[in-house]
Order: sequence, then structure tokens, then C-alpha cells
Amino acid sequence: RRVVALIPAAGRGLRMGGPVPKQFLALGGFPLIVHSLRTFHSAAVIDAIVLAVPEADVDYCRSEIVRAYGFTKVTEVVAGGKERQDSVRLALSRVGTETEIVVVHDAVRPFVTVGMIDEVVAAARAGGAAIVALPMRDTVKQVGPDRVIERTVDRTPLWLAQTPQAFRRAWLADAHRKAQLEGVQATDDAYLIEWFGRPVSVVEGNGENIKVTRPEDLFIGEAILSSRLS
Ligand code: C5P
Repeated sequence: RRVVALIPAAGRGLRMGGPVPKQFLALGGFPLIVHSLRTFHSAAVIDAIVLAVPEADVDYCRSEIVRAYGFTKVTEVVAGGKERQDSVRLALSRVGTETEIVVVHDAVRPFVTVGMIDEVVAAARAGGAAIVALPMRDTVKQVGPDRVIERTVDRTPLWLAQTPQAFRRAWLADAHRKAQLEGVQATDDAYLIEWFGRPVSVVEGNGENIKVTRPEDLFIGEAILSSRLS
């Protein structure tokens, strides 16, 4: 049954502090977005990829990314929306009902692996929805507005959500439709499924699957890349 990846890459990356959206900054000599596209393209379980990019970059991405790197699984490059959730919804609208599973992955997590994609898709096939996440390793403090610790939170049940996140296509479509009607905003897709009232399971990821958000993350990214090549 068909599995389609949705890659939101339409952010402006303002936290990076420069004019170039972070998904196009170079990591190891390639635009950031190329790393995650390469992994999704090489994953046998993925049949097609829908990429959402800033409206002004649609043509650039079609020629300089998709065609230039031979990402033939990318069937559509669409203009994203104002928020990440809008970009995912717009990409999802290009996926037909013959698709069983959609896998959402942030373009700015370049170290996703084929193993992670396989695991999260298998878990979504079994249970309907699954995400890659990491157990909390630090001690967690709840802090008041006066910057004084109110309490130490039990970290045992706490996990940090990452992407990839995989869902039955119909589940994600139901959740996005309802969220848009009711004006509900979320920073990841799993939240919308939870809010809709359906279960989401968790697959343990790894600490290398970082989100490149701040300038210093590029240095960390270069170090992870070189450790993989050696
Ligand atoms: O801003 P944040 O780091 O949460 O972005 C996560 C991913 O969502 C990035 O790949 C970014 O390009 C994408 N995004 C998007 N459309 C937006 C905002 C962010 O596709 N309007």
C-alpha cells in the first residue's frame, strides 16, 4: 500500500538570523534540505514525496534541488503556508485517497535515517499513528515568572517529540480538517491526532536527529556528518 512523505520546508528560519531560509543553508557542502530528501528518496518504503517550500522558491526547488539531484520520487513541489501546520495541510491536500500512510518530516532534521522511517511507518501501519521521540535525559524544572523553581517534574513519562511522524492518511486528513475549522494550532502533527482523540505511539529515536534551528546547530551538524563519514 502506498506511502507518501510530506516534507514541510516552507519556513523562513528567522532564528538563524540570516536572509537565507535555513533549509537552504549548506551542511557538508549540500543545501540542508538535500540531506533529508536523499534519505527519503533512498528509503524503499517511500513511494512519493510532496515538498512544501516558500512560494518564492518553488521554481528554484524544482530545478536546483529536485531535478539537479535526481529526486524522482518528489512528485510535487507546492507553496507552503503561513505556519508549519498550513504547509503540512497544503502538502496533504495533494495526496490521494489511494495512499495508506503519510510520513511528515521536517526538512531541517537532516540526520533522519532509513531505519527510523521504516520503524515509524511499521508502527503507523499497526496502530494508526506513530512518531519518533527521545526520552528526557535532563532533570526538568518548572519555573515561575520570577525565575524561581516551583518544582522538579518527574521526567520518567516525558519524551521529546521529533519527526518523522507517520499516520494513516485518513487520520491526518480528519485531524487537519477539524483543526482548521476550529482554529486549533499545533507545533507538530501528532498533537492534532491526540486532540482528535486517537492514539499515537512512540518509536525511540536518537540524539543525532537534531533540528537545525540556531546558527550553532550547523556546527553540531557538521560534526555529526563527519562522524558518519569516518
Ligand atoms: O520553525 P520550525 O523549526 O518549527 O520549522 C519546522 C519545519 O517546518 C521546517 O522544515 C520549516 O521549513 C517548516 N515550516 C513550513 N512552513 C512554515 C513554517 C515552517 O513548512 N510556515
